[in-house]
Amino acid sequence: MLKVTIDNILIEVEEGTTILQAARRIGGKVVPPAMCYYSSLKGTGGKCRTCLVKVAKTSAKDPRPMARLVASCSTPVQDGMVVENITSQEVKEARKGIVEFLLINHPLDCPVCDQAGECDLQDLSYGFGLEGTRFEEEKREFSVIDIGRYIKLHMNRCILCYRCVYTADQLTGGRVHGVLYRSDVSEIGTFISNSVENDFSGNMIDVCPVGALTDLTFRFRSRVWFLRPVDVHRECSRCTGKAVAWMFGSEIYRITGRKDAFGEVTDFICNECRFEKKEVSNWIIEGPRRINRQSVISANHYEKIKKQSIIKPIEGITMNPEEIS
Ligand code: SF4
Ligand code: SF4
Ligand code: FES
Repeated sequence: MLKVTIDNILIEVEEGTTILQAARRIGGKVVPPAMCYYSSLKGTGGKCRTCLVKVAKTSAKDPRPMARLVASCSTPVQDGMVVENITSQEVKEARKGIVEFLLINHPLDCPVCDQAGECDLQDLSYGFGLEGTRFEEEKREFSVIDIGRYIKLHMNRCILCYRCVYTADQLTGGRVHGVLYRSDVSEIGTFISNSVENDFSGNMIDVCPVGALTDLTFRFRSRVWFLRPVDVHRECSRCTGKAVAWMFGSEIYRITGRKDAFGEVTDFICNECRFEKKEVSNWIIEGPRRINRQSVISANHYEKIKKQSIIKPIEGITMNPEEIS
């Protein structure tokens, strides 16, 4: 086992563990943000740079710091390594710069974007973004296109994380899309077939960290924070059938895969479950789903606030806090 200290917390991990995986074992705020790494997809990571950390001590044998900040998703832990994430001002400054870069070509679409409320880039912008922009050049612009029956591609919002490419490559029968061209003209494209049609293509929507790939059966129907996520399952011959139904009243507005505390899908689901089963009678309801993430979806839950601290008593009237609802 290797010993690593992350933000002053010591943890032991197996050889081959990356700094990001070690931080995830600790959990909470020491976990660096990750926009391209996806633990269940091979080859992901190393593209967005949002997970940069400082290695203040390389190992017990080599106590020198690493020369520059490193991507925690692709840097393996060494025995005796000391890592700084939220305890490093340099990392915070670098993250601000990366967010600024990610936003230079990004449209101001949050008010009309289906991803708003569950978007990693939106969360990062609130955490590290600047109020204004220093970018004076023309932004890149692409047309919004349908790639297949179920998915709309907003290339303007894409951060070229490659997650959808790996998803299509590793989960489905044949890959028909990828990243075309290089540098600032790179784009997600379907090239020859102009359509992504396979049983698991909907998972590309779930892994996309921004609103570049959206669900055509849900688009513009509701803001996600107005919906109630409920764990559901059904017998399915193609996938595990374990999903989340996003409900408004007794109606299912959309179906997605279940995600863990790091926003990663735990069970990839097929297109039939995701797009074709929108009736409550199609599903066995397990119960309400708790959204762990720090996002607008999990906002407005006041369980931990003491009611008497926010409601001032009216003069002359005695109130029992338990009676206030
Ligand atoms: S992808 Fe995220 S940051 Fe971009 S417009 Fe949509 S919600 Fe906003
Ligand atoms: S479409 Fe989404 S998942 Fe695909 S590369 Fe762009 S941001 Fe990543
Ligand atoms: S998550 Fe590490 S570089 Fe993107």
